[in-house]
Amino acid sequence: MALFKLRSAVKREPVVATVPRHIAIVMDGNGRWAKKRFMPRVFGHKHGVDALVRTVKASADRGVEYLTVFAFSSENWKRPQEEVSGLMGLALATVANHLAKMTTEGVRIRIVGDLSTVSDKVRAALAQAEAATAHNTRIHLTVAFNYGGRWDVLQACRRAIEAGVAADQLDEARLAQFMALKHAPDPDLFIRTGGELRVSNFLLWQIAYSELHFTDCLWPDFGEAELDAALVAYAGRERRFGGVEAAEPAAAADALTTSGS
Ligand code: FPP
Repeated sequence: MALFKLRSAVKREPVVATVPRHIAIVMDGNGRWAKKRFMPRVFGHKHGVDALVRTVKASADRGVEYLTVFAFSSENWKRPQEEVSGLMGLALATVANHLAKMTTEGVRIRIVGDLSTVSDKVRAALAQAEAATAHNTRIHLTVAFNYGGRWDVLQACRRAIEAGVAADQLDEARLAQFMALKHAPDPDLFIRTGGELRVSNFLLWQIAYSELHFTDCLWPDFGEAELDAALVAYAGRERRFGGVEAAEPAAAADALTTSGS
């Protein structure tokens, strides 16, 4: 179990806490953040990329091993054409502007989702990001792009059938081998920014026992302080996975060991 020191948002002093191995994030609130500034929605998404870069670094620094983010959902095609093409352009710009640094910082990037409907140019850039970082191990960043939780379950069933798995051989562990996040443990912590209290078709299969953390913070404002607040909240949860006893006791935030340094 990873231990780290964080500056508690509650106590304002360093504490030692348990760190989730895997955090999944719905990065919501970019549009409202831009609107508050009388700017187009894509402006919010651009600042959302900066928040993502900050969060990857902060997560790696705290010992998080897997970070999975919802960058474009299967439903986002319904947005105005200008915003959809803005998000596609942003994917290209993000690879162009941030890939080199992510590569040297040990970030392994994977893209999950239905890439059959995105342009060749975007698909090539995403493939470039995966290839350039394939040997990295410090933190696994999975970007869900044209992803939906129901799509994921369906594509896994289809691929299991195509692989010839017999119905009586198909169990949860076998199906999980066909899911988009087969490379990662299930998320321990699910964070949604932007104040909405829903899951919005993200990782439906994988978040069965994730701890949920919702914050009003709009995604472009997310950073170290918000991440630490989520980690403190997580450390106070008792995870029972459907049982009676805590399976992996996470000390309550108040009981965390106070470190003098
Ligand atoms: C939801 O906010 C956010 C998105 C649909 C896109 C998230 C994308 C990023 C943070 C940038 C990274 C993306 C790429 C392509 C590299 P919203 O627009 O629904 O905000 P609102 O609820 O305030 O309208």
